[in-house]
Amino acid sequence: MTTAVKIGVGLGARAYDVLVEPDLIDRAGSLLRPLLKRPVATVVTDETVADLHGGRLRRALTSAGLAVQEVILPPGEESKSYAGLQRLCESLLSLGLERSDIVVAFGGGVIGDLAGFAAAIFKRGVDFVQIPTTLLAQVDSSVGGKTAIDSPQGKNLIGAFHQPRLVLADIGLLASLPARQRVSGWAEVLKYGLLGDAVFFAWLEANGARALGGDTALLTRAVARSVEMKAAIVAADERETGQRALLNLGHTFGHALETETGFGDALLHGEGVGLGCALAFRFSARLGLCPPGAAVRAAEALKAAGLPTTLAELGRPFSAQRLLNAMAQDKKTENGELTFILAREIGAAFTAKGVAREAVEAFLRAEGADP
Ligand code: GLY
Repeated sequence: MTTAVKIGVGLGARAYDVLVEPDLIDRAGSLLRPLLKRPVATVVTDETVADLHGGRLRRALTSAGLAVQEVILPPGEESKSYAGLQRLCESLLSLGLERSDIVVAFGGGVIGDLAGFAAAIFKRGVDFVQIPTTLLAQVDSSVGGKTAIDSPQGKNLIGAFHQPRLVLADIGLLASLPARQRVSGWAEVLKYGLLGDAVFFAWLEANGARALGGDTALLTRAVARSVEMKAAIVAADERETGQRALLNLGHTFGHALETETGFGDALLHGEGVGLGCALAFRFSARLGLCPPGAAVRAAEALKAAGLPTTLAELGRPFSAQRLLNAMAQDKKTENGELTFILAREIGAAFTAKGVAREAVEAFLRAEGADP
């Protein structure tokens, strides 16, 4: 089975490759070199990633003849803020980053989103490369060019589409992830099968435990197929006017639950997405859109990976009204009407606009939410 995969994101003049491979960061210098106008790599990372892998990336870059400058930020979502963006942009100015230089975003989703957005606006736009270090970032946030910071009014509200020049997904880096982070990322992997590829979903059912347990070849295949699906969707609908919205399967419920739980350790993003996928399938079944058996199968795969699939597992009460209010803030909401990604079967998601608030409320109550 292959352990090195190259996937193209077909965006014309802005097309780029995503490489999925173990030990890829050791080749980062030679892979970056052809993209650079001068031999300087500016790495943006956080303290955790710098401690774990910073030396290795630095060695790879310097051995290819590159001078390395680094901006090391505190870990955590707080960096994805106006203050964090200002701090990063000022650091890039102090380092003398030029318009033709490249920012290397080396970290999880927070670093990718923040460094990508800084790259989008720094001197009216510089190129950037993503080296995602979490499973979630490798299969989702590093690909597709969505960059953003959070506002006090909500997550990812201030941002830009800015595609990277290259994405290096080093599967070996996932070994150092805490197990909970790996499982959280797995929710996004299952999401791809659930939204558009029943064969991949069956493969994940059969191979998920071994892939999550550290089988590099299986993990490479799971990440590569996820990226391949995302690349195809992004190439067809970069600005999310249509099918890209399918990537938000599980996110309307998940995001509302994250809002209620404070976007922190109580419910990690991937856990919210996993539970959101289980809810989206059960909601689809309740509405008669999808066979109940498909909802059971979706939940079983999520549960087998160690993800929550019911509100009760979060060990706290939820108010249906509060969840609905959080859903109304969703970026897919149009003219105040709720939009959900629902499913007709495993691998067959679709966008459902104008979903009645009463139907969602009744469903949430049936799932154990208070009024
Ligand atoms: N994370 C969903 C997207 O990139 O569209």
